[in-house]
Amino acid sequence: MICQSASYTDFRNIQSADIRFCDGINIIFGDNAVGKTSAIEGIYLCALGRSHRTSKEKDFIRFGEEAARVSIVYEDSTRQNELAIAWSQRGRKQCAKNGVLIRKMSEFIGNFRAVLFTPEHLSIIKDGPAERRGFLDNAISQLDRVYVASLQRYHTVLQQRNKLLQDCMKDPGLIPTVDIWSQQLAEEAAVISKKREEYVRSCEEYVKTIFHDMTSGREIPEMVYTGARDAAWFYSKLTENVQREILYGSTLYGTHKDDVTVFINGKEARSFASQGQQRSLSLAMKLAEGEIAKDLTGEYPVFLFDDVLSELDDSRKEYVMQGLSHRQVIMTTCETDVLPKNSYRINVKDGIFRYVP
Ligand SMILES: Nc1ncnc2c1ncn2[C@@H]1O[C@H](COP(=O)(O)OP(=O)(O)OP(=O)(O)O)[C@@H](O)[C@H]1O
Ligand SMILES: [Mg+2]
Repeated sequence: MICQSASYTDFRNIQSADIRFCDGINIIFGDNAVGKTSAIEGIYLCALGRSHRTSKEKDFIRFGEEAARVSIVYEDSTRQNELAIAWSQRGRKQCAKNGVLIRKMSEFIGNFRAVLFTPEHLSIIKDGPAERRGFLDNAISQLDRVYVASLQRYHTVLQQRNKLLQDCMKDPGLIPTVDIWSQQLAEEAAVISKKREEYVRSCEEYVKTIFHDMTSGREIPEMVYTGARDAAWFYSKLTENVQREILYGSTLYGTHKDDVTVFINGKEARSFASQGQQRSLSLAMKLAEGEIAKDLTGEYPVFLFDDVLSELDDSRKEYVMQGLSHRQVIMTTCETDVLPKNSYRINVKDGIFRYVP
């Protein structure tokens, strides 16, 4: 999959820009706060429909403007396509593929596939479970429409169930109505946990190989997911604990509590791995994400690396650049002395993106 160009109108600080990309390594470079991360964010929005930086979509609209728009032209194995998303201060966001409006996000996500890697991902091993669930959700969503739809329903039901649990505290007569939400939540949770477990199993295989190649070490990583459970398991947990949940005012069991634990030589990486090993593991997880997408779709996704090159030491940098030499990579940096040779360079200054020969 190749992102051929990206266009922005009043998106973040970018008033108007059209950027063309080559099918190899592209570097967007420039000073701080010129719009490099915004450019990457716009492309990732076309993959995932939502941002890694914020859930407040109005933030995308350039200060003082009414609307923002991002579009990309990309090529997949069959044809050239265009995806566009627009936000306005008043209305809802609008998504389109090849000029045709798409109403369901589950039909927008996954047309264009990208792996995003930012400095925040480097601490994914040490971060809380929410970040690791986010890794799974972002990766699987681009590969599986059923997963996206299930995840959306799960979050809606979870919110409604939590609200009802809080209402039950004031009005115990409502308690029998929790059951219908418990059933729905349990059904979606079963779908989500099964797909997450399958994903973690494939991811672990690649992480083992990549980590070994990258560090030429003897340590063996393992990834363990909370576990695939069926709807009956979730349902019984939810019903057995409903009184306790009413006290807490929130749902205590379900896939929103899941985690992926990473081990090195049988010890939990979170507490025992060195900082360098943790970075290598997170890098390996991101590269694995690309490999799994290739296995399932036949094409490599586009790799978006925001400001990570300067965070990696020379050997990891070399490993990444070599490993990705035949893929499309769009990366940003403010350090001009690390620009890889033979890259397609785009300088950004005063809001203008310009190819630099
Ligand atoms: N809605 C908006 N309207 C206008 N400007 C915005 C908006 N949202 C963010 N900005 C500004 O856009 C600028 C560019 O941000 P961005 O994160 O893209 O910079 P960057 O080039 O990645 O910088 P760095 O090298 O520090 O990471 C920042 O000054 C930010 O405050
Ligand atoms: Mg940035």
